[in-house]
Amino acid sequence: MDTPLAIFSGTSNPALARAIAEEYGTALGEVTIKKFSDGELYCKYEQSIRGEDIFVVQSTPPPGDNIIELLLLLDAAKRASVKRVTAVMPYFGYARQDRKDQPRVSIGSKLMANLLVKAGADRVLTMDLHAAQIQGFFDIPLDHLYASRAFIDHFTSNPIDNLVVVAPDVGSLKMARSYSKKLGASLAFIDKRRPKANQSEIMNLIGEVKGKNVLIVDDLIDTAGTLTNAAAALKERGALNIIAICTHPILSGPAFQRIEDSPIDELLVTDTVQLRQPSDKIKVLSIANIFAEAIQRIHTNDTISALFDN
Ligand code: R5P
Repeated sequence: MDTPLAIFSGTSNPALARAIAEEYGTALGEVTIKKFSDGELYCKYEQSIRGEDIFVVQSTPPPGDNIIELLLLLDAAKRASVKRVTAVMPYFGYARQDRKDQPRVSIGSKLMANLLVKAGADRVLTMDLHAAQIQGFFDIPLDHLYASRAFIDHFTSNPIDNLVVVAPDVGSLKMARSYSKKLGASLAFIDKRRPKANQSEIMNLIGEVKGKNVLIVDDLIDTAGTLTNAAAALKERGALNIIAICTHPILSGPAFQRIEDSPIDELLVTDTVQLRQPSDKIKVLSIANIFAEAIQRIHTNDTISALFDN
């Protein structure tokens, strides 16, 4: 595309947006985001974007202001006559609400998809969706990236022997299977029950962990109940070192304390969302280069399927 490109950031994770722009070889575009006295948001591009191919980087964990900010930025871009605007959502919030699993509940991720399209998004670029099927909620192109490249690179430089990869619930099994193949490790999984939201109970462990180093993989950690219950159960069953990886470290409520008190030796996360506080047990791997490469390929209409290898 001969069209000029510009990358802008919302306020949810400016450090990541800066890193993506830097990896791409440009500076972030200028935008003003402020609030009226009552908290209402206001967004304005401070440079002309007429006819440009723009990328707005904004993860959407709570608070709801993050998604509203993104919607306002998309709307402002459309009204400023951009050629194309891509919503770059390293973490796509509300992805957990992806089906009507009980009567009288909403499908939050479908609602978010409708809002993004209505606000003017021409494309969406995101990573490790809670359920890949969410792509089908969009009638515009959506590119779904995987953080596995960052984690696999890390374990290639820091190999772990005698390894079993563990899925802490059935939802993570596909991801765990892919890691076990790539790392040449065996596979185990936990049969988890969720009596209510944010509460998890372990029912069974399927697979062998005794005398093995363990790698627990998950797409996101919220209260860390799933992760730390899994780690405790694995330790009880004779696991040696326990390492965990997760793409989106939401880490709300008791999460940090639970991780601190757990038998987990190290937790590797990415920077799709900003860590609320530092922790000796948590190490952050950046996925900025993966997003920068995807943006470059989208901009030049090159295939990005090379980045879809999970
Ligand atoms: C569940 O399906 C997800 O993959 C995560 O395991 C879950 O959402 C994490 O939640 P929490 O940390 O609150 O247990």
